[in-house]
Amino acid sequence: MNILLTGGTGYIGSHTAIELIKAGYKIHIVDNLSNSNIDMLDRIEKISGTRPEFTNLDLTNQKDVKHFFERYNDFEGVIHFAALKSVGESVKMPLKYYKNNVVGLYNLLTAIKNHKINNLVFSSSATVYGTPEILPVTEESPIGYTPSPYGATKQMCERIIEDFTSSLATFEAISLRYFNPIGAHDSGLIGELPTGTPNNLMPFITQTASGIREKLSVFGSDYNTSDGTAIRDYIHVSDVAIAHVHAIRFIISNNENIHHKVNIGTGIGSSVLEIIRSFEKTTGIKINYHLTDRRAGDVEAVYADVSYAKELLGWKSIYNIDQMTKSAWIWEKALRNL
Ligand code: NAD
Ligand code: WQD
Repeated sequence: MNILLTGGTGYIGSHTAIELIKAGYKIHIVDNLSNSNIDMLDRIEKISGTRPEFTNLDLTNQKDVKHFFERYNDFEGVIHFAALKSVGESVKMPLKYYKNNVVGLYNLLTAIKNHKINNLVFSSSATVYGTPEILPVTEESPIGYTPSPYGATKQMCERIIEDFTSSLATFEAISLRYFNPIGAHDSGLIGELPTGTPNNLMPFITQTASGIREKLSVFGSDYNTSDGTAIRDYIHVSDVAIAHVHAIRFIISNNENIHHKVNIGTGIGSSVLEIIRSFEKTTGIKINYHLTDRRAGDVEAVYADVSYAKELLGWKSIYNIDQMTKSAWIWEKALRNL
């Protein structure tokens, strides 16, 4: 069964590629390599034993997307990872984000319609909930205000998929709302490749440990949480990847005209200090950190109710926090030749 992965050479896409190959799927990756490297194909091949088909394609180029689907038209389903994802950059360059993420989806759905592909899995985000009022967050929680254009693109894309699904009786979609994916593949051969100064906690911790950053700022120590630092639902990227195998298998075998929304988290909230302590415990390296003011736009606590993922997809996470922080360090060491 042939599955198209957009953005498949990226962080989550590459881990998913491996899990799909392991599960027996044939895959074709399209990516414009704006935030990934072509050598990812070698790495996927090394880990899985199979080299995925690859086409360098920018989804915002409608003509190229049209030609691609005219040439390759045997996809059972599409997993759409391709997007820009830096929250901070999206505030500075909103049009870049609206064009890339929304126009990219528009062109993809146009081709999906023309080529009668019935199954789509979309990379959504917990960011669509904004500041949740009740924890854990269920899929019924209201879509909230998101301060960043990035978050707005995820909400818009979900809405577009909702309307598209309603308009096409044969079409089914799943938006997977990831919480905070971290960590790297057990092989140590693939992981996150942050460009510039990382915004996210885990790459900042690993880069502080490897000496690239002098000090980690812990944003906020006066939250109403057990140790005063903010709480998130961190999930191992391989768990996220396996969720896609469940999602694509489910959606291909299920023929309903529904847009499902599913939380992908562990259901466990961890504070920033808990993540630092886990990293220090599993690696034996002390992190140089200091407590600073809250970061603008940050939410105090967010973690998922994951019961629907179990019910609908038969999926739940396996990796614990220590495995996540340990794998992130193994990847950082490989990346820096330490
Ligand atoms: P990533 O940047 O590593 O991967 C995205 C890939 O998409 C990259 O390889 C990039 O080159 C490609 N791409 C971007 N725009 C493209 C375009 N116009 N045409 C073709 N390819 C394009 O990001 P990731 O962390 O793997 O995220 C994958 C998806 O998951 C994204 O949609 C992201 O918004 C979403 N998501 C990520 C997180 C996270 O914390 N990593 C959390 C929630 C949701
Ligand atoms: C986690 C916690 C920070 C860096 C973002 C996006 C979200 C999703 C995942 C894509 C927070 C604290 C961080 C640092 C710190 N991405 N922190 N020092 O903000 O939960 O979510 O990534 O969809 O949309 O908004 O993740 O890793 O940035 O922060 O103290 O140097 O770590 O304040 O409490 P976040 P994060």
